[in-house]
Amino acid sequence: MSEIAEVKINGQTYELPIITGSEDEKGIDITKLRSLSGAVTLDSGYKNTGSTKSAVTYLDGENGILRYRGYSIEELAEKASFIEVAYLLINGELPTKSQLSEFEANITKHTLIHEDMKRFYEAYPSKAHPMGIVASLLCSLSTFYPDSQNPNRTEEEIELTIYRLLAKLPTISAWAYKNFVGHPVVYPKNNLNYEENFLNMMFSLPAEKYKIDPVVADALNKLLILHADHEQNCSASTVRIVGSSHANLYSSISAGVIALWGPLHGGANQAVIEMLETIYEDGTPLENWIAKAKDKNDPFRLMGFGHRVYKNFDPRAKIIKKAADDVLEKLGIQDPLIEIAKELEQVALNDEYFKARNLYPNVDFYSGIIYKALGIPTEMFTVMFALGRLPGWIAQWKEMIENKEPIGRPRQIYVGANERSYVPLDER
Ligand code: CMC
Repeated sequence: MSEIAEVKINGQTYELPIITGSEDEKGIDITKLRSLSGAVTLDSGYKNTGSTKSAVTYLDGENGILRYRGYSIEELAEKASFIEVAYLLINGELPTKSQLSEFEANITKHTLIHEDMKRFYEAYPSKAHPMGIVASLLCSLSTFYPDSQNPNRTEEEIELTIYRLLAKLPTISAWAYKNFVGHPVVYPKNNLNYEENFLNMMFSLPAEKYKIDPVVADALNKLLILHADHEQNCSASTVRIVGSSHANLYSSISAGVIALWGPLHGGANQAVIEMLETIYEDGTPLENWIAKAKDKNDPFRLMGFGHRVYKNFDPRAKIIKKAADDVLEKLGIQDPLIEIAKELEQVALNDEYFKARNLYPNVDFYSGIIYKALGIPTEMFTVMFALGRLPGWIAQWKEMIENKEPIGRPRQIYVGANERSYVPLDER
């Protein structure tokens, strides 16, 4: 029997259907609420609002569960390759051997970016933030492939855009880094796998060929998998809402990159390392920083702590913390920042303020430490997040298009001035 919710407005009761998800989560379907009652719902920051029915990622914030297409993040991070996970997210199932090689071959074919795009890099200031470059260049891809702007593309045309995106983002990103450090760009090498090719484009120099360390490539694979999707977060929702206007896929993904850039979202990984460096240089006891984070008159927040949905622990943070230890040990790196991070975590976890608000370290708390150990500069951290998140954004966009979702267009409760007459300038 289908379940019903009753909403009573000024004595009048309205019945609304309850939708049950495959993990038994309940949602009140308010699609007809406005036409029945004239009322809308209000939920600032969408803290209680489901924007879609999705089959991509399952997240249970209370119990720290994250699964892509039903597979646990722990298992995927341990056993899968990032490209396999990308296939899984985008197509819904794990690939067979032949599907995987075809997928990889199709991506490898498109790793180059048009030589004219290379000229864009020359116009950016040398210290341009790589996220600004990456977002602009992703959007620019739509001008190089104008067919992508046709909202009635065939499935094959959409597939081609997906391959191009997956293939070109590592090149665009590594070249943004080269611009940042003022080095010549390195072209993609199609005999390397996804992670190796990216590392080679980042770190090879004309005078010195980069030697790919399997420890580094493995850690990168794990990090990309852990970031690959996270259901209806700020950037995925942005991709879906921009795409819902039938803007092309390149531009929708570019909008997702911009949403990710903010320090409350993906930009937190850069902010964490900057915070740890400041704490290290400052040298005052950690308790002072905890007090600052708790002080409502101080804008300082403990970056890398807290999450909109995880209220127990972030399963990605658990895996990353262990990976950070492994990478530092295997590469023989002693980083004082990791000691500060561990101490800060302990102090915060035992503090009433953080306990009462369920504030735990999130994925960004330890990811920066690994990126730093891998030799990736701070300004590139959020780009690394974007590289990992790309298949998730694509999967979310594809699902929205396949479900023929309507254009995203929320309502509001207007609280401004009531109608009034225009007052001429000299009478004001
Ligand atoms: N440091 C100090 N206090 C905090 C923090 C923090 N990092 N995070 C939340 N709070 C407090 C906040 O002041 C509020 O206190 P009160 O109830 O007394 O007003 C309470 O905890 C609830 O916070 P909120 O801002 O209402 O929670 P939210 O769900 O809107 O925000 C968040 C979630 C991630 C934006 C927030 O926790 C935050 O700003 N964290 C630091 C930035 C960060 O690490 N972001 C990365 C998120 S993980 C990567 C990703 O998936 O994007």
